Amino acid sequence: MTERPVWTGGVTLAVIAAVCTALVALTFQLTAQRIADNEKAFLERNLQPALAGLFFDSPVTESKLTIPQPHDLPGSESAIVYRVYASEEPVAALFVVSARDGYAGPIRLLIGVSMDGTITGVRVLEHRETPGLGDRIEITKSNWVLQFDGHSLRDPEPGKWKIRGDGGSFDQLTGASITPRAIVKAIKATLAYFEANRETLFTLPADPVDDDTGETD
Ligand SMILES: Cc1cc2nc3c(=O)[nH]c(=O)nc-3n(C[C@H](O)[C@H](O)[C@H](O)COP(=O)(O)O)c2cc1C
Repeated sequence: MTERPVWTGGVTLAVIAAVCTALVALTFQLTAQRIADNEKAFLERNLQPALAGLFFDSPVTESKLTIPQPHDLPGSESAIVYRVYASEEPVAALFVVSARDGYAGPIRLLIGVSMDGTITGVRVLEHRETPGLGDRIEITKSNWVLQFDGHSLRDPEPGKWKIRGDGGSFDQLTGASITPRAIVKAIKATLAYFEANRETLFTLPADPVDDDTGETD
């Protein structure tokens, strides 16, 4: 029996690897659009609660603006702002920012602010706070996060933008004041940013959209 040269094994492996890579790439291409569509629908659905009581007629995700570091919003990564319009007039901004000093790390927040600086809604998107303690910031666990609705930078006055335990106006969570303190601070900073940048925010171009996937870069 003739022995095959050693290199044929390598070639076979290379061919298998190339075929696998091509299959993965093909699968990605075929599913990318559907994933992008699903993500967009998910995002649109989840953005709505932070815009309670507000009339708007723009697809929120199409007005996405990424604000890279350094910026004055809370969080050490890029912040995201979705601009919201009614009849092409700006009516609100939705911020995705991070409260840095949660008990167990950053807390990703969605904060809706109408053009007059009033909060339309706050939701916690992501966190690692402790179940039974800090996780009551989730709307599925308690109504704690609803207390911010309708407030603004001057209601209560800026010095009262703290939890009650620190002499402020906002309820904390029993046995867990670190988490609420971080969130109150982040919301106040977001309101201050909105007040200082309200006009500019609505003149900046939206993030470019990838024609193939529909995703913003
Ligand atoms: C295991 C463990 C997990 C904790 N998780 C949280 C948390 O998620 N959020 C929080 O604010 N405090 C948490 N705490 C409590 C804090 O250590 C701290 O006691 C509390 O936030 C202070 O709240 P208080 O001012 O109501 O006493 C945790 C404590 C322990 C021991």
